Amino acid sequence: MAINHPSFGTLAEDRIIIFDTTLRDGEQSPGFSMNLDEKLRMAEALADLGVDVMEAGFPIASMGDFESVEAIAKRFAKEGPVVCGLARTSSADILRAAEAIKPAARRRIHTFVSTSPLHMRVKLRMEPEAVLELVTASVSLARQHTDDVEWSAEDGTRTEHEFLCRCVEAAIKAGATTINIPDTVGYAVPEDMAFIFNMLRERVPGADGVIFSTHNHNDLGLAVANTLAAIRAGARQVECTINGIGERAGNASLEEAVMALRTRHDAIPTTNSIVTTKLLKVSKLLAATTGFDVQPNKAIVGRNAFAHESGIHQDGVLKDASTYEIMTPESVGWTTNSLVLGKHSGRAAFRDRLKSLGYEIGDNQLNDAFKRFKDLADRKKVVYDEDIAALVDDEVGRTNE
Ligand code: KIV
Ligand code: ZN
Repeated sequence: MAINHPSFGTLAEDRIIIFDTTLRDGEQSPGFSMNLDEKLRMAEALADLGVDVMEAGFPIASMGDFESVEAIAKRFAKEGPVVCGLARTSSADILRAAEAIKPAARRRIHTFVSTSPLHMRVKLRMEPEAVLELVTASVSLARQHTDDVEWSAEDGTRTEHEFLCRCVEAAIKAGATTINIPDTVGYAVPEDMAFIFNMLRERVPGADGVIFSTHNHNDLGLAVANTLAAIRAGARQVECTINGIGERAGNASLEEAVMALRTRHDAIPTTNSIVTTKLLKVSKLLAATTGFDVQPNKAIVGRNAFAHESGIHQDGVLKDASTYEIMTPESVGWTTNSLVLGKHSGRAAFRDRLKSLGYEIGDNQLNDAFKRFKDLADRKKVVYDEDIAALVDDEVGRTNE
């Protein structure tokens, strides 16, 4: 159903809102904190990438966080993504968030409270009824400062279903426009997500007038799978971070979720605002800013994501890249794929590399050079272009003697 949202106006039914939390939940990864200038640079890159909402920080957490959120809000004072500040339920938190985001043209307060039995008993030491009252009070206060209010049920996926429905109903009645159900500890499996979102949409009065949001941690490596399952069950906002950074094992990775939605549009027909050709650039900026590279086999942005080493794969890719690539490297910002030469590589890739290095040699020389290349590849993990050039120069020299 098309929804009329305070920040986005009328949203088409298939439009997914991309809520980036690299600068808030992402920054909560140990060792990933960023200073104001670094956050501003990331914010520019995220806006350029096309995120709809940018969670810029947790303003009450520190003076530095407040100043960063405020600086980002000032940067997007005329136009740009919705700038969001996180707040717990206390008035102090909410007022601090309201103050920090005030300069932004479009602004959101994101307030949350734990709703699972474990968190309520151990962390909050509160009865469920008192938590329900906090939901109403916090959302109502936030609504006095902006029309765009998100409410999150922390540890939502471990919350009793009946109580979750009551909390969501209270948040909607108090004026929340986005309802987020975090899988705070990465415990859910895709079937849980489907059940929870379908249940909330069917059972909670007023559910058809709000955006449901999914926020998944990656403790079991299921954050993106859970995100997709939630979308299939009606979630319209995806909370994610660049390179999947975030508490513990991280959050759902923006680049993976977005490319899964794009590549499998047939299975999950949706649209979003992300300019996918800029994904690699933003990933690299974050890695350079934080000093943490992504692992080589990271989907989409890892150095091996479009690299092929085995002869069978290289032969296929040279004939038609779609044999072993489900998206083009260019579509996410790489200039090309790469055929890495190693002990699994075949003659076709070897010949192709020689050609690109400017060597046209006959079949006999090629056979000899290929044999020597294989011997070398058995000893070295990766054979570089310089090694190949040396091999062939030597081979040509020997044949001419
Ligand atoms: O994971 C979580 O529950 C959160 C909330 C603050 C939304 O990050
Ligand atoms: Zn989180």
